[in-house]
Amino acid sequence: MAVLTGAGISAESGIPTFRGAGGLWKEHKPEELATAEAFARDPRLVWEWYNWRREAIAKAAPNAGHRALVQLEIRKPRFTLITQNVDGLHDLAGNGKILKLHGDIWRMRCTSCGANWPNRRVPLPKIPPHCACGGLARPGVVWFGEPLPDGMMKEAEHAAGAAQVFLVVGTSAVVYPAASLIPYARHAGAKVVEINTEPTAVSATVDCALQGPAGELLPKLL
Ligand code: OAD
Repeated sequence: MAVLTGAGISAESGIPTFRGAGGLWKEHKPEELATAEAFARDPRLVWEWYNWRREAIAKAAPNAGHRALVQLEIRKPRFTLITQNVDGLHDLAGNGKILKLHGDIWRMRCTSCGANWPNRRVPLPKIPPHCACGGLARPGVVWFGEPLPDGMMKEAEHAAGAAQVFLVVGTSAVVYPAASLIPYARHAGAKVVEINTEPTAVSATVDCALQGPAGELLPKLL
């Protein structure tokens, strides 16, 4: 079994999603905050936004949906969790192996020497933060137009291709290449089950679209 999660799984933990009512991309323009160009133009502005998001996420705890995915990992001999989320709530819930397609908001990377390190300081004492080498640090996330972490998409495709059941939870399924895992799994023969509060770009193509909150439906699936 493989699972692909998106921002919707953390919605019941109080973390805003990107699209839809109250979504971050309703109030902010992604090209001003989530691209390498935006960061080169104004690192302080980008870091202030990430600092604000880190503060919001730091107050949140995993919900029943995250916890149900830990139980699935324990019960299923072959289980892969693939997430588009950068919030770290799957780690906090206790999943062992997580393919974080879009990186991790709790890591930083040096734009100069390439060092990559964990950092959970909230709020950040200095914005923008710097590396020990003096270089400017950036959030350890994937921005629009950037490639996914080395080899991770291959690993995710391998899991999606081998799965009998591919569970898609709380994603609008419009951001690529992550969304391509859904047809990939289907063509490889998986039964695709979607859990979402609303119909999405892929609802009509899946084997079973369950409509409702992940925190309620995932524990029921167990
Ligand atoms: P979106 O904000 O695009 O979609 C969130 C989905 O969750 C929507 O389809 C909602 O209907 C659904 N949803 C909301 N509450 C839910 C709940 N309680 N239970 C189940 N579903 C719920 O978020 P993503 O699809 O994750 O990229 O967005 C993909 C990427 O776009 C993100 O990883 C981020 C963003 O720009 C990067 O940061 C690179």
